Parts: sequence; C-alpha cells; structure tokens
Amino acid sequence: MDSVLPAALHEAYEHRSLAVTAAVLLVGGATRYIAPEEARRLRGARILLYLHLGLLPFAGAARATPESLYRELHFAARLTSALALITVCGSVLFAVVLPRLRVPTPRILREVSVAGASLAALFVLAARAGFSLSGLIATSTVVTAVIGLSFQDTLGNVMAGLVLQLDRSLAVGDWVKAGDQVGKVREVRWRFTTIETRNGETVVLPNSVLVRNPFALLGRREGQPLQWRRWIWFNVDFRYAPAEVLEAVQTALAGSIPNVSASPAPDCILMDLHESYARYAVRYWLTDLQVDDPTDSVVRTRVFYGLKRAGIPLSLPAHAVFLTEESRERKAEKLDTEMSRRLEALSRVDLFEKLSPEDHAFLAGNLRDAPFARGEVMTRQGAEAHWLYLIIEGEASVHVAEEGMTREVARLAAGDFFGEMGLMTGAPRSATVIAESPVRCYRLDRSAFQEIVRRRPEVAEHVAEILASRRSAVEAARAGLDAAAAENRRLARKADLLQSIRGFFGVA
Ligand code: CMP
Repeated sequence: MDSVLPAALHEAYEHRSLAVTAAVLLVGGATRYIAPEEARRLRGARILLYLHLGLLPFAGAARATPESLYRELHFAARLTSALALITVCGSVLFAVVLPRLRVPTPRILREVSVAGASLAALFVLAARAGFSLSGLIATSTVVTAVIGLSFQDTLGNVMAGLVLQLDRSLAVGDWVKAGDQVGKVREVRWRFTTIETRNGETVVLPNSVLVRNPFALLGRREGQPLQWRRWIWFNVDFRYAPAEVLEAVQTALAGSIPNVSASPAPDCILMDLHESYARYAVRYWLTDLQVDDPTDSVVRTRVFYGLKRAGIPLSLPAHAVFLTEESRERKAEKLDTEMSRRLEALSRVDLFEKLSPEDHAFLAGNLRDAPFARGEVMTRQGAEAHWLYLIIEGEASVHVAEEGMTREVARLAAGDFFGEMGLMTGAPRSATVIAESPVRCYRLDRSAFQEIVRRRPEVAEHVAEILASRRSAVEAARAGLDAAAAENRRLARKADLLQSIRGFFGVA
C-alpha cells in the first residue's frame, strides 16, 4: 500500500492528470454555464476523467508487474484522459467559440471532427504504447474485411451527410419530399437525416439514400421567397361558360387570404374538357408550408361560395343529373318556402316599406343567394356597386379607410342590409364590408330596382329620404352640429341624393 500511492502519483505526474482534471472540471464547468445544452456531453467528459483517475493507482501498482499489463493500463489511462480533453475541446469550440464568431457549424461537422480526433488519438496513443492497430488492420484480411464491410454503409452515410450540409443542398427547417414522405428537416446527423411529417411522425432517412435518390425541396427557388404552389381542382358542367366560371372564381379569390401569397396572386384556369363537364384548377402560392391542407380548405371554400353566388353549381355525375327528378309538388313546395323567406327578408328593409305587395313579389323573384365564407370581402371601398345585400344569417363588419387609416365603423347582422348607397346612386362603394362568420345573404341587382323606380317614380323620393337621414345623422354627429344645422344638412343631402338616384335610374 505504501508503494502504491507514490506510484499512482508518479503516474498522475506522467499523464499530467492535474492539468487534465482542471481542464475538464473548470473549463467544462464554465462551458456548461454558457451553453447548458452541452451538459450531457460534458458529463461524458467527467466520466472519462474519473475513469482516468481510477486507472492511475492500478497503473501505478502494475509498474512492478510484467510489462504488458502495465503497458495496457498506462495506455487505457492515456486514452481516457485524451478522450475527456477532446470532448471538452469539442464543446468549447462548437458550442461557445464558433457560434460567437457566427461561423455556421452543422452538427454533422462537429460529430465527424470529434469522432476523427478520437480515432486519431486512439491510433497515435496505441502506436506510442507499442500496439499497432493499423498493422493489425492491414495484416488481418478477415479483420479488414469485417471492418471494411461494416463501415461501408456508415462511411457512405457520413460522407453523404457531409456533402448534403457542405453544399447546402439541405438545411434544418427545409421542407422536403423524398419518395412518398413529406416533412420538415429536423436534424442532419452524421448517419441519417430526420424529417417531421405533418402527421407527427419522425422519418429517419439514411443520408446515402438522400444523396443517391432525387428529393424535392418544397417552396425553395433561387432568389425567391419561400412559397409553394398548390392546385385546387373542381368541375363544372358544360352548361356554364368557362369565362363566367373563371370570372366568378377570380372574384372570390380577390383580397387577402391567410397564408396565400399576394404575388403571384391566385389564378384559375380551365385544365381539361371531359364528357359532360369542364375541369378547372385554382393555383395559389402557399407561404407557410405547415398549413397546406387548412389553406387548401379555405381556398376551396372561397371557390365554392364564389360559384354559388354566381349561381354556378359544381358538376354532378351525369347519371345523377338525369335520373333524379323531383316531383312537381315537392318543387312547388320548396319554391313557396323560399318565396316567403325572401318576402320576409324584404319586409325588414325600410327602403322598401312604401312598396306594394306586387313590388315586393317582383323584387323577391329577383333576389339571388349570395353566401360568403368567413373573412371574405363582400364589398370593397371604392369599387363599382352592382348589388344591394340583405343579410339572412351571420355577421359582417364595415370598415372605412380615411387618410391612410382603416377603422371599423359598424357591425351588421341578420336582418341588416348594406350596399344601398352604391346601388341607388351609382357612387363607388363607401366602405369595405367583411364577413366575420359564414354569412348568408340575398342580393338584389340594379336592374330589378330600376324596374320598380321606373314603375313608381315616387319610390326614389322615399329612398332619398331614408339615405339622407342616415348619412346626415352620421355626419352631424361627427361634426357636432345642432338640431337646426343637422336638419339643413339633411334637406341638402336629400336633394342631392334624389338628383343622383333619378339621374342614375334615368327617371324624371
Ligand atoms: P355602399 O357605399 O354601396 O357600400 C358599402 C356599404 O357599407 C354602404 O353602401 C352601406 O350600406 C354600408 N355602410 C357604410 N358606412 C356605414 C356605416 N357607418 N354604418 C353602417 N353601414 C355603413
């Protein structure tokens, strides 16, 4: 026992164990403080250090034994201290120094460098200790073959991983399609690359597979922002002219849609002509690749409502069109229910309160269904006005842009109407109205109302009266006018509006 301690100390002196311990504990501790994510690696370095320290007394004691045992223990102590130092140096270099110098260091580069340095240490120390690993490998055909074959794939993967990272063909965060797998690259390791699919799976792709087979980087184009083109297909039968369909869909897609690029804007094209229907596609550029299906769904919904507003149904299978004929009674019953619903909606509009039941029936016959999806722009400020809208279901917000600022001025719900200013006077839309939920509307076009004004010119006066009261009330409140001034404003407005309405509808 008396001779073991000095021998162990002698060993420690030869291995510079004090310096190694200080480096692993102090430098390692500081690194862990700066880069906490290194904790696991640094724990490995400490375990190697303790192994090294634990080997010292044995190596010291073995000094007096046959030389081969001493050589082996001495070599083991050397190797453990070298590996501990390499691990700490790796952490300092790759987790502290290079990130602060803003040098990009792919993870694989670190792993390969540390593995390379460890292998080099093994060979050099083994050679110094008199073991010839290289000789052993070179002279033993079987060992060479075994190592060669077992490392063939691994080395191939490592080299492939290095190539992928160094030529920047793949980076963490990219969206890739490899075979039938689509996902976001989570990490490129030295043997494999992992991608996370939208379904929450992590797919492990060996790097050599990625290098040998083509893969697509979704949404990535030289010099272009990240956006990926998506196709939404739909069919409309031949009864509806392509120009009408394209117009209805383009209008429905105007305005901003979350995660859809404004440039290039979505477009709609006629892709094919089949036996009884035409096949169309909407193409849009998706800006957040994570939400492909939800955004497809929003675009599809817009297409659906846009077509519905234009009175264009999606195509039905031809046999269903010709075989399912509704009974006459059922059709009449449906028509009656719809008519009473329309009359009820019209009765709530004060603009029409002076009209006769025949006028109401005439207008009801001219109403069109106009459903909107949440977020759709129903009228745009400054646009030409074509329709008056009666809200049957849902909620909409009214926004006015003034002096570069847009503010919400009102909320509209079932029973409200909007778009009367443009429809009655021909003025551009005075506000933008946006659907805040799915909204069902009826809409009335100008020609139907023109017919009523032509039949009964006094209606124009009533409409002017109502519009003037509404407008002047808002203006008087904004300008802080007293009752007399407000009344004067109202009369002046009414005269202006009456003139506009008469001029617009061409009645005296
Ligand atoms: P019009 O100008 O044709 O188109 C936009 C519509 O928004 C407008 O008709 C009104 O129906 C409605 N609108 C505009 N301003 C307001 C407001 N302050 N309050 C309620 N509705 C409004």
